[in-house]
Amino acid sequence: MHLHRLEKIWLTIGIGMLAVFLLVLGTMAFSMGTTTPSQHHHTIDPSEVSTTAPFDKPGLTKAGDKHFEAVMVAYAFGYEPQTLEVPAGSTVDFKVTSSDVVHGFSIVGTNVNIMVVPGEVSQISHTFDKPGEYLILCNEYCGTGHEYMKTTIVVK
Ligand code: CUA
Repeated sequence: MHLHRLEKIWLTIGIGMLAVFLLVLGTMAFSMGTTTPSQHHHTIDPSEVSTTAPFDKPGLTKAGDKHFEAVMVAYAFGYEPQTLEVPAGSTVDFKVTSSDVVHGFSIVGTNVNIMVVPGEVSQISHTFDKPGEYLILCNEYCGTGHEYMKTTIVVK
């Protein structure tokens, strides 16, 4: 009698945990599937990048206290603007697009590593706590000048 009841309790706990696990998994899959595309992709005509705001004026704008927005254009083979400078502790919201082919946008020493696809606006934020020079590199092969495609962020 005793053993039977105990088994029943354990079985209930086991099923309950499985249900919770599946629920969490389902919620995760659902939120990943629905929020990622809309948050990271906006469309833009790649041939009109130089005349489409905000990419007609690439550069840094202040969005608040130690908060900046960096509008950048990736092209074969470089980035516009050439250098950016922010105070240490700044959070930078990057908005990047390409005016030609697929490029990469990875910031050495950080976890920022995204693809820049023509026709889309890629967005990513990073907080630069440590002062120094951060190299932005292209990590998608884009042609003969691929290895030279880079720019820097100076954090002071
Ligand atoms: Cu751009 Cu490789």
